[in-house]
Amino acid sequence: MADKTAKLHLNGQNYDLPILSPTKGPNVLDIRKLYGQADVFTYDPGFTSTASCDSTITFIDGDKGELWYRGYPIEQLAAKSCYLEVCYLLLYGELPTEAQMDDFRARVTRHTMVHEQMHNFFRGFRRDAHPMATMVGVVGAMSAFYHDSTDVNDEWQREVAAIRLIAKLPTIAAMAYKYSIGQPFVYPQNDLDYASNFLNMCFSVPAEKYEVNPALARAMDRIFTLHADHEQNASTSTVRLAGSSGANPFACIAAGIACLWGPAHGGANQACLEMLREIGTVDRIPEYIAKAKDKSDPFKLMGFGHRVYKNFDPRATVMKESADEVLDLLGVGDNPTLQVAKELEKIALEDEYFIEKKLYPNVDFYSGIILEAMGFPTSMFTPIFALSRTVGWIAQWKEMIGDPQNKIGRPRQLYVGSDRRDYVDLKAR
Ligand code: ACO
Repeated sequence: MADKTAKLHLNGQNYDLPILSPTKGPNVLDIRKLYGQADVFTYDPGFTSTASCDSTITFIDGDKGELWYRGYPIEQLAAKSCYLEVCYLLLYGELPTEAQMDDFRARVTRHTMVHEQMHNFFRGFRRDAHPMATMVGVVGAMSAFYHDSTDVNDEWQREVAAIRLIAKLPTIAAMAYKYSIGQPFVYPQNDLDYASNFLNMCFSVPAEKYEVNPALARAMDRIFTLHADHEQNASTSTVRLAGSSGANPFACIAAGIACLWGPAHGGANQACLEMLREIGTVDRIPEYIAKAKDKSDPFKLMGFGHRVYKNFDPRATVMKESADEVLDLLGVGDNPTLQVAKELEKIALEDEYFIEKKLYPNVDFYSGIILEAMGFPTSMFTPIFALSRTVGWIAQWKEMIGDPQNKIGRPRQLYVGSDRRDYVDLKAR
């Protein structure tokens, strides 16, 4: 609701800009009518100061290091809830009753298998394809396999698509992994919980019995929970922008996966671990710290810094605890990469450059360490992020489609190219 206005004085005219007040967070200047009234655009590359939508799903206070899903702090959810309950919360806005949870779990569980024909689709990829490349393709192709849930104007179809995506993404991510290492696909097992089922699909083989370690399943579930949503980040905004044209949900989520792949976003956990391996030994850390500070060197310390969190990343705090537990459990605390990670964290947190620029380890710094200890190759880090974030993307997409104010996303530009000029024939140039 706008209860105040800001004044803009431009070219001798006064314009009133309504100030919108959120439940929490900074006020927002409503500039929707500005272009029509004053013939100006606003300029905000990277959208660092632009609210692109109303949302009731996730709240972040970057200065205080707070992250809430539907009002519940992430620390409480990570400690007391589980990923499927968090999925329910993100999708429907409230924590479920026991009966609602049983029903939701049953609906997700019954959708974990993928159409058998999709196996052939996987086999069309090169066997050494990155699992993210395979996932972008396969999730996009879901619209061809499940076209009975692609009508975005049908609420029931939107619901079915949401459940299918949440249920099938672990299966697809595990299949992409198995394909990339030449092992047979493992079917989902519906007597296992969500995280155990994923671990089983990744690590079991027909030749040997595989017992899921419950402590590792809990750590996996926590990784899913911590990544489930993060308001209007690059991949979520991509999903919303793709969806604003009326594109089907599978195509939109494939677009989100493509965006997430980049090393400045979800690809950072892979990039971080590769960087730790490249550093190799603790004595080389100062060299890399110096590179990160050098303005003429594009190198950045992967796993450090965040667009929104400028004090600490609350997910990183929980993830660090999980990392310590998993490393203890697996007895791999003396792994050289992990030694480099611990020392790098210590040195960077004490370094003036990182303190002054408020660069703290982010969630990806620790998630990579846990996933490596669990036995995942680095190429699987971003797919795991993608499957965790799918619920956030789909909740945000559903919110947008259900919003009567929804219109196609169409940013403007500050054109700095040539002025009008006439075509010159080839021979005359
Ligand atoms: N290492 C060294 N310097 C850094 C780093 C870093 N990781 N991150 C930012 N800086 C510096 C920048 O060079 C800049 O310096 P300047 O003020 O002298 O120009 C200053 O800190 C501010 O950084 P910006 O790039 O303006 O911050 P922005 O909000 O645009 O970027 C980002 C955030 C993309 C996450 C950045 O910190 C980064 O690239 N980090 C490494 C990649 C990474 O870990 N990404 C994961 C993000 S979390 C996620 O997606 C789940």
